[in-house]
Amino acid sequence: MGSENAGTITRISGSLIVAEGMTGAKVGDMVEVGDLRLIGEIIGLYGENVAVQCYEDTTGLRPGEKVIDTGRAIYAELGPGLIGVIFDGLERSEVEMLSLRGSFVGRGLRIPPLSRKKRWHFVPKVKPGERVIEGDIIGTVQEGAIEHRIMVPVGLGGTITDISEGEFRVTDPVASLESRGGEEIELTMMQTWPVRVPRPYKEKVTLTEPLVTGQRVIDSFFPVAKGGTAAIPGGFGTGKTVLLQQIAKWADSDIIIYVGCGERGNEMADLITHFPELIDPKTGKRLMERTVIIANVSNMPVSAREASVYMGVTIAEYFRDQGYDVALMADSTSRWAEAMRDISGRLGEMPVERGYPAYLSDRTAGFYERAGRVVTLGRDRRKGSITILGAVSPPGGDFSEPVTQLTLRYIETFWALDFDLAARR
Ligand SMILES: Nc1ncnc2c1ncn2[C@@H]1O[C@H](COP(=O)(O)OP(=O)(O)OP(=O)(O)O)[C@@H](O)[C@H]1O
Ligand SMILES: [Mg+2]
Repeated sequence: MGSENAGTITRISGSLIVAEGMTGAKVGDMVEVGDLRLIGEIIGLYGENVAVQCYEDTTGLRPGEKVIDTGRAIYAELGPGLIGVIFDGLERSEVEMLSLRGSFVGRGLRIPPLSRKKRWHFVPKVKPGERVIEGDIIGTVQEGAIEHRIMVPVGLGGTITDISEGEFRVTDPVASLESRGGEEIELTMMQTWPVRVPRPYKEKVTLTEPLVTGQRVIDSFFPVAKGGTAAIPGGFGTGKTVLLQQIAKWADSDIIIYVGCGERGNEMADLITHFPELIDPKTGKRLMERTVIIANVSNMPVSAREASVYMGVTIAEYFRDQGYDVALMADSTSRWAEAMRDISGRLGEMPVERGYPAYLSDRTAGFYERAGRVVTLGRDRRKGSITILGAVSPPGGDFSEPVTQLTLRYIETFWALDFDLAARR
């Protein structure tokens, strides 16, 4: 965008940046901060001043550097190329970052989330002359063990004028539509979606099927439904991570989204090295061929946890919309809550219980609300679901603390891990 949407940094406090002179900025806009063009998001407006939550390490940033408003919200790129990749919260492939920057966390790096070079074999599912509406599947691409279904993006529809089978890149047009107004629209395999906005569906439906987790004690006594929500609170070392990872390996869902949020780096490293070796009992192929990992470890900036939680759930919704049963693991939602507390404290907001911001409740509810079993958009009334399993790490194993209590209010299944029992083994 033009220079009229640029401001100047006046204050830096950890991941909170205050800039002045930004006219026309909106809350939720994605911004580029400083000479390194770090990615941030506008979280507050005070007259001409804006408060920015920066999702990358702000070390070395100085007042006087520029903040540029991109004019659009933080968004996810959705399309072939998601499966089997390990992303950070801003949907950058960790492997590509490693090849660009070595084993240090790169800053200000721009890597297109979906490879722009790779070609995918697109097989059309509709014919020219057919009318399609938003959410209709126009074709498929085989990606790993998954049939990736290419949908008409939300808000578009019309008559197919051209569509063909072949090898395409995600940015190549694969079909053309003539909209009602007679406008010609080209469809690519890639679409984008702002991560904070839940993706639309037709209706929510009753949960009827259990998610078979493969853990007998859970499946027999404390089952969770496909499309349900479960929280795993437990003091440190009680086995939350081990349980989530076991469920990720054995659950009978089509797609696994594993969000590592503020957890130890060596645990994520373990996941990243072991997961790709595992064989999926369902398909006989590698488990990674139906998994997306969002890795955000404890030594990355605290604010990036927020980005990873929303990125994870947006990718989960995209696969739900294709008609799949998705299981999303978030380890740990407490680290995300701590990130909110951190930024809220820096903003000088009035805290409520134990220093957490008043909107902790809304955000927690909003996150779990994105779970569910739905009838998706599109004419075929296909169904998809997202099951959210969130670990909660109450300090000292005290379940009366706010994050555990709030989470309890919004979830259906509660798998409490007991410290004494864990210590007895
Ligand atoms: N069901 C189990 N049986 C035996 N050992 C277990 C079991 N679950 C976990 N453990 C062991 O307990 C240890 C801690 O487990 P884990 O890392 O999952 O805990 P956590 O609750 O995620 O801890 P933190 O709060 O620190 O993240 C691990 O070393 C693991 O090997
Ligand atoms: Mg853990």
